[in-house]
Amino acid sequence: MPASPGWHFSVTIDAAIIEPFEVNPATDLNYPVDADKLLDEIARDLPLADFLYLGSSKVVQLLSEITGSTIGDDPLFLDSWNSLEEDQYMADGGKYRKRRHATFATQHAGDQPTLMPHQPHYQSLDYNSLNGGVARYFAPILIDLLNSRTLGALLEMGNRLFSRLTGNHAWHIELHQFRIEARDGRYGNPTPEGVHRDGVDFVMVVMIKRVNINSGGTTIFNLENQLIGEFTLLNTFDMAIVNDHRVYHGVTPITQIDPQQEAYRDVLVITFKANSPSSA
Ligand SMILES: [Fe+2]
Repeated sequence: MPASPGWHFSVTIDAAIIEPFEVNPATDLNYPVDADKLLDEIARDLPLADFLYLGSSKVVQLLSEITGSTIGDDPLFLDSWNSLEEDQYMADGGKYRKRRHATFATQHAGDQPTLMPHQPHYQSLDYNSLNGGVARYFAPILIDLLNSRTLGALLEMGNRLFSRLTGNHAWHIELHQFRIEARDGRYGNPTPEGVHRDGVDFVMVVMIKRVNINSGGTTIFNLENQLIGEFTLLNTFDMAIVNDHRVYHGVTPITQIDPQQEAYRDVLVITFKANSPSSA
């Protein structure tokens, strides 16, 4: 895996499923406390390997800088994962995925992402051979989440970061709230389509909560199908960012630790796709 100087890759390997993998040496960076400088660091490092793992402390620091106030235990944000609805489009018949969905857009530099009318999520079969090829209508994200400072900060983080990287300012942004459950002795599969690309430009995956589960490790493959990274998002606000043009991503199935207790993995996935390359 290409070195990513300056980033603290506090990668955690779930040995139950994933074999230990060479990780970058920890080179803790004493971040300047300024959102623009933090975003510059990320924009510098993401292209080195086309993916980044960001530990929760760095993400919280950045989100707090963006909002000018402490981001952390935000109940409007975190509790909204308790109100998701079952995904009705699981071609494998699985009942283990709950979700909500929303679409935002920007047009010009400096725009705040604007909530768009509720619309279906569409992936071609090229990108999702299991569930793609149809317009999928998911339940909309609830107003409590849309109004949360934390979500606003995450959207602004992606907007500013990916505009820095590309020069593009017109984005089609999709938010996917997911809960994957493992129950009745069965595993839950966070990526039932397997290792994949989403058909966008960039993907942010934000860990919300892991409850009573093993595994759920993230794997990253290059376009030659070589494994170039694996890590487990463990803590709230641990984040993975991938360049969707250049790497595939997947997540290993989760299993219950205590079979008598509910078990789930909650994440927020935010995708950015340029609306018009000419807007760069
Ligand atoms: Fe994905």
